[in-house]
Amino acid sequence: MYDKVDIYHELFENLRPDYPMIWATLEIVKPKVIAEYGAGSGRLLPLFKQTDAEKIIGLDLEKNMVKSFMKNGDDKQRIVSFEQNICDINNYIKDSDIVIMTSSVMKHIDPSLREKAWDSIYQSMGNETIVLIDHCEYIYDISKSTQWQSYFDTLKFWWAEEHREMLKGFEWKKNVSEIEDILYYKNTGSQEEIKIKTFLYKIDDLKHDIELSNLKYSQLTDKFMYPYSQHNTKRFISLLVKDTYCNDKLLKTTSDIKRLLNIEK
Ligand SMILES: C[S@@+](CC[C@H](N)C(=O)[O-])C[C@H]1O[C@@H](n2cnc3c(N)ncnc32)[C@H](O)[C@@H]1O
Repeated sequence: MYDKVDIYHELFENLRPDYPMIWATLEIVKPKVIAEYGAGSGRLLPLFKQTDAEKIIGLDLEKNMVKSFMKNGDDKQRIVSFEQNICDINNYIKDSDIVIMTSSVMKHIDPSLREKAWDSIYQSMGNETIVLIDHCEYIYDISKSTQWQSYFDTLKFWWAEEHREMLKGFEWKKNVSEIEDILYYKNTGSQEEIKIKTFLYKIDDLKHDIELSNLKYSQLTDKFMYPYSQHNTKRFISLLVKDTYCNDKLLKTTSDIKRLLNIEK
């Protein structure tokens, strides 16, 4: 699914809608260790590198993504990446101050494995670890199957202005069923096509699973920040902590991040 890294990276490396909330969270948490689960080719590395973090860890199922994350990391002392399934995370990530799980990564997990995945996430966290999650029920918030359409015509506001022109060379379509939410995208020049299979994962089901796994959440917002919020998309953008984490501390961190983002309570 994600083995064609070059076309993936060219298209998505400058995708930016989650940058403000990730930046604000890093500013407030001031992590020494950052981990990203389902890190892909390192789209978020420019943000991570600006922090004082001593260690930046990218974890991904796909070997080629891991290689690309390392290449884009270009600082072997500080940045590491390895092949790892979210359903089976090893303990050596336990020291992370922050774990980033963006781009609705939990939609990739087969519903029969969700409980295992949440348990694995819980076990991978230290008592003080904070997870930042961004989740949308449907890819691009479109709940119906579509025909091919241009990224430039439909979604350009999610990309940094100076990188929008290249979107004219890419198209996407979706195939949505009761269980699956499949995205196809292609380079219209080479006609190279990629299929990304995900599952429907309702926000209410996600919240329920989070609670079942003994994590608690504090919601930051339900949409991307201006200027990336042009669709009125319902998202779950939240901090997750272990149930033993101090509640006052969680609420303070949430309100500090909101203040930085100018989000009213
Ligand atoms: C949509 S990409 C997001 C990449 C990156 N987080 C970002 O926001 O740019 C999803 C990534 O999750 C990875 N992935 C999917 N299922 C996974 C799993 N079970 N364990 C670890 N990584 C997984 C894919 O290989 C892919 O690189």
